[in-house]
Amino acid sequence: MERIKLALSSDVVEGEPLAIMLDGFPQLAVYRVNDHFFVTDNLCTHGNAMLTEGFQDGTSIECPFHGGRFNIETGKATLYPCQIALKTYEAIVENGFIYITRLP
Ligand code: FES
Repeated sequence: MERIKLALSSDVVEGEPLAIMLDGFPQLAVYRVNDHFFVTDNLCTHGNAMLTEGFQDGTSIECPFHGGRFNIETGKATLYPCQIALKTYEAIVENGFIYITRLP
């Protein structure tokens, strides 16, 4: 499985999710929570909003458009009007960098 480098872990600040654009992927959001890292699609499943412009509170991200929320660990929509789960990716941290894997 190909490993894809997203960011330096030190560049991801808790409460300030980082937007990442990579070839072959939808826009991604990287989050830090208590020194754990999570990666999701950045685009809200309810509309054309980037979650990195929303409000993170622990493992919850609130969309800046209509205030819906997701759990960034599971991707589950937790507050209306968001109903469709967000895609999540396993974040691998190694030597100070955050990676995800590209599935075959
Ligand atoms: S676009 Fe995100 S809640 Fe509507």
